[in-house]
This record gives sequence, C-alpha cells and structure tokens, in this order.
Amino acid sequence: MKIVILGARGNLGSQLDLVFKTDHEVFSFDREDFDVLDSDYLEQVLTEIRPNLVVNTVAYNQVDNCENKEGYELALILNRDLPATLGKLAIKLNFILAHYSTDYVFSGLESRPSFSENDTPNPINKYGESKFLGEIELKKLESRGLQYYLIRTSKLFGPNSDNPLAKPSFFDTMLKLAATKDSLMAVNEELSCFTYTPDLASASARLLIARPAPGIYHLINEGAVTWFEGANELFKIAKKEIKLRPIRSEDLARLARRPKFSVLENNKLKKMRPYKEALKDYLRIIL
Ligand SMILES: NC(=O)c1ccc[n+]([C@@H]2O[C@H](COP(=O)([O-])OP(=O)(O)OC[C@H]3O[C@@H](n4cnc5c(N)ncnc54)[C@H](OP(=O)(O)O)[C@@H]3O)[C@@H](O)[C@H]2O)c1
Repeated sequence: MKIVILGARGNLGSQLDLVFKTDHEVFSFDREDFDVLDSDYLEQVLTEIRPNLVVNTVAYNQVDNCENKEGYELALILNRDLPATLGKLAIKLNFILAHYSTDYVFSGLESRPSFSENDTPNPINKYGESKFLGEIELKKLESRGLQYYLIRTSKLFGPNSDNPLAKPSFFDTMLKLAATKDSLMAVNEELSCFTYTPDLASASARLLIARPAPGIYHLINEGAVTWFEGANELFKIAKKEIKLRPIRSEDLARLARRPKFSVLENNKLKKMRPYKEALKDYLRIIL
C-alpha cells in the first residue's frame, strides 16, 4: 500500500511511520517538509503520490490555549478545516482517510463514566469543540462517498520523536519534576485511559490494513485512571520515592475545563493491553 502520514514527526506520527514502514511504501511529512494548510500544495503532493491511505495526525493540541481567541482560531483551522480539506481530497483522489480525535469531545457530565463509539459528543472545552467540529466535517462527507476511519484516543505517552517542539506527555513531565522535587501533586479526577503511542500505532495499522466497516473507532490502552493514580503507578514502577498529593481539578489554575469522566470504550476491536504493561515497557526504554 502507498501510505501518506501527515504530522510524521509528532508523538503519534513518528510511531505510525515506524510501524507502517516495515511493510508499506510510506511517504511521511511534517512541518519542515511543507505546511499542510497550503491546500493547493497538499493536493499537488497527494496527486503526485496517489496514495491508497492518508493518515492525518496533525492537530492543534494546546488545550488551554484553545480557550483564547487566537488559539481557538488556529484550532479551528487545524482541527476542523484540515480534516474537511482532506476528506474532500480523499473523495477526489480516491484514498482512504484516517484521522484522530479525542476523549475530550465528551463532557463527562453524564451519570456514567465511559463512552462508546456511538455516543453523541458534547464537549465542554474549546479544544474538544474544535475536534468535534472536525468529526462533523468528515461525517458530512460520508454521503459523498468518503471512506474514513475516525480514531478517538486519549492521554498519549511514548517515546519522544526527534521534534524539539513535541509536547511532553504527563509521565514525562512527572519524571522531570521528580528529578528536582521530593513532593508533587496530581489531579485525582478526570478519569480516562492512558495510551502508549507504539501500541496505538500498531493497533491503528491493524485496523487500517484489515479495514472493517469505516466509521468511528476507540483505541486506548485498558485501565482507566485519574492523573494521580497514573502518577502513583509511574513512581511505583520507576521505584522512585516521592510524596504525591492528590488534588481536585479546581485546585489547578487552567483555562480549559476538563471532563471529570472521559473513558473511551473500545467495543469494536480487540482490546489493547493494560496501560500498566505499556508503561513498564516505556520506562524500560527511557530509564
Ligand atoms: N497528545 C494527546 O494526549 C492526545 C490525546 C487525544 C487525542 N490526540 C490526537 O491524536 C493526534 C496526534 O496527536 P499528537 O500528540 O501525536 O500530536 P503532535 O505530537 O502535536 O503531532 C502533530 C504534528 O503535526 C505537525 N504540524 C502541526 N501543524 C502543521 C502544519 N501546519 N503543517 C505540517 N505539520 C504540522 C506538528 O509540528 P509542530 O510540532 O511543529 O507543530 C507535529 O509534528 C491528534 O489528532 C490529537 O488531537 C492526542
């Protein structure tokens, strides 16, 4: 298969690049290759390559910045308009589109903590809203023949790509802080699933090669936890003595509200392994 990966130096994109390269002809692009927002050039590149599959990991992920006018405008361009452009190109050039979304499309205000692929999103922050608008754009193109896989995931962690601007994961940040402090705090709310990027890349590849019915899929490592519980597990595996204090979401000054519950249920595919196992593998690599 001819596969184009957009955002290929990002946290997830770099792992997709590694996984797909072993068996496929892969064309990987990131910011230093060209700006994906230059839609004429994007179309020219895709017309020349004629891919069977385009995997888009480009997004605006700065959750708190999205609450500002300037950040939200950028989020709309990258999270809503780009998938719409790619969807139209997918129909025109006849490729399958894979696109990623987030647990933050759900509000977590309902009486139950987890969400299936069929549940209706109801985001409570601007980042979630921009990602949901991207989902809607793809859905709208379905009737015009778009074949797409919308993969929702949450709380990514994994090996750093060589992109110096790559956003550090929660676990990376905790380990960095623990190197200089002997007590830390973490939010003991916002229940959701940590997801290891190498696992997500492999599971995505399996999905996109097997190609069951197009639509929405949830891919996360199993074992929903709060940030506090995740940090406890991290320091336990890393054998790091640290005083960890649980706090409430409201104790952190953040611009964006986070859902208290946003556990994604994977009801359609083989479940991925527990995050604790993946975290052990990750720490074996980095410590
Ligand atoms: N990270 C999470 O915890 C998380 C959770 C749930 C869902 N997701 C979703 O998963 C997907 C992948 O996330 P990620 O964390 O791997 O993202 P990421 O690390 O930010 O990767 C995105 C890549 O796209 C590049 N890019 C941004 N704008 C571009 C442009 N205009 N032209 C060309 N390249 C551009 C970025 O370059 P720069 O770094 O130079 O901007 C970056 O290398 C996204 O759809 C995200 O919404 C992520």
